[in-house]
Amino acid sequence: MNGRETFPADFVWGAATSAYQIEGATEEDGRGESIWDRFASTPKKIADRSDGRIACDHYHLWPKDIQLLEWLGVGAYRFSIAWPRVLPQGRGTINEKGLAFYDALVDGLLEAGIEPFPTLYHWDLPQALEDEGGWGNRETTEAFAEYAEVVTRRLGDRVRHWVTHNEPWCIATLGHEHGHHAPGHKNVGLALKVAHHLLLSHGMALEPIRRNVRDAQVGIVHILSPAEPASENDTDRNAARQFDGLFNRWFLDPLFRGRYPKDAIQDRKEWGHLDSIELPFVHGGDLELISQPLDFLGVNYYSRTVVKAGRDGRPEGVRVVPKEELTDMGWEVYPDGLRTGLKRIHTDYSPPRIFVTENGAAYSAGPDADGRVHDPRRVEYFRGHLAAILQAKNEGVPVDGYFAWSLLDNFEWAMGYEKRFGLFWVDYANQKRLPKDSAHDFKRIVQSGRPHPPAEESHSAQEETT
Ligand code: FCB
Repeated sequence: MNGRETFPADFVWGAATSAYQIEGATEEDGRGESIWDRFASTPKKIADRSDGRIACDHYHLWPKDIQLLEWLGVGAYRFSIAWPRVLPQGRGTINEKGLAFYDALVDGLLEAGIEPFPTLYHWDLPQALEDEGGWGNRETTEAFAEYAEVVTRRLGDRVRHWVTHNEPWCIATLGHEHGHHAPGHKNVGLALKVAHHLLLSHGMALEPIRRNVRDAQVGIVHILSPAEPASENDTDRNAARQFDGLFNRWFLDPLFRGRYPKDAIQDRKEWGHLDSIELPFVHGGDLELISQPLDFLGVNYYSRTVVKAGRDGRPEGVRVVPKEELTDMGWEVYPDGLRTGLKRIHTDYSPPRIFVTENGAAYSAGPDADGRVHDPRRVEYFRGHLAAILQAKNEGVPVDGYFAWSLLDNFEWAMGYEKRFGLFWVDYANQKRLPKDSAHDFKRIVQSGRPHPPAEESHSAQEETT
């Protein structure tokens, strides 16, 4: 490899989680109902019929979870704030106990020398707002700005880094077009409106955040999946262009160029997603708000998408490796897609800084007879992707940090608790956390700054069980 073989000393190392996936305590201390509480309590929505009522009980165990971060040696923690804990009705009355929870968490992190990287919206919309039309209702954007104001007024004196939204693509598409995620709508027209309102609310939240936070570093998180044609023929290449338009450019173009991609608008019109190439939900001034300068872009990466033209003429993902090589989510392990994806973002959009805000793999490996969790495939996953990031850095991409998904096994949305992404194994029967081999390896990566760290020292599993 050309260039450096270690990450620079100021590279930000972290782990990531989100509120609904780990907190539990959904009915405690005045928290309001969220769309995920409602969705999970609806029959047949969650694979293992579970929900987030207890999850990892992080609401009570957070001091222990900070110790896990300290054990890993990371300098940053990406978590999300539950809107319905802070504003149970979505706007108006503030729930002091909800704010106090995050206040204490932030202080605990800072005392441990760990920089908080909160995300304001990781999918748990207050149900009260959904009842008024949710993200399809333009007024929800105002409620989001109010929420951003309330949270940053309280935490902005100590927290510098802020993420507005996590993965607008997933919220719009999985939640409003496919119906796989809360709130479970299946309406592509609604999904497009939702995508726009999410971006708009991001733009509207920037003002209160910057007013309340000195030297604020504000960004948004996009889920990146580079599209590659299944073959070199024109139809597959066109399908890859179409997929890229729907998945990546539909979100990145408004943010960085102040416009929606023309070709993707045209595609959507042809598929009947839009009545005309006018986007009626875009009002004058919206795109200016959306495309205000960002301090960083957060990139979540799990895999690429290999695309062919489907029978209906729309793009379709294809599997290109044997099933056994996929992760438990059915996703291909493809580190080089992270390198090329980062390069492409740098070339086409040039955000001032990039943080890889999520990256990881679901494998079910649990404790063995020796009390250790041997998860060699996750070890390789992290190593491979970090090597790809280092290569991208050496090729000039300003990637300044990496957050492993996830600190803990947790509630993997519609897949429930069966899919495990954690560095730490969670025994849901007693809430014990146990570092997997990948946690030991990640710790050494952080210590050494090397994607392939020096060999491990011996350690006792017993001592490290918390
Ligand atoms: C991302 C989500 C995160 C987690 C991972 C596996 O899309 O942001 O909450 O579910 O996928």
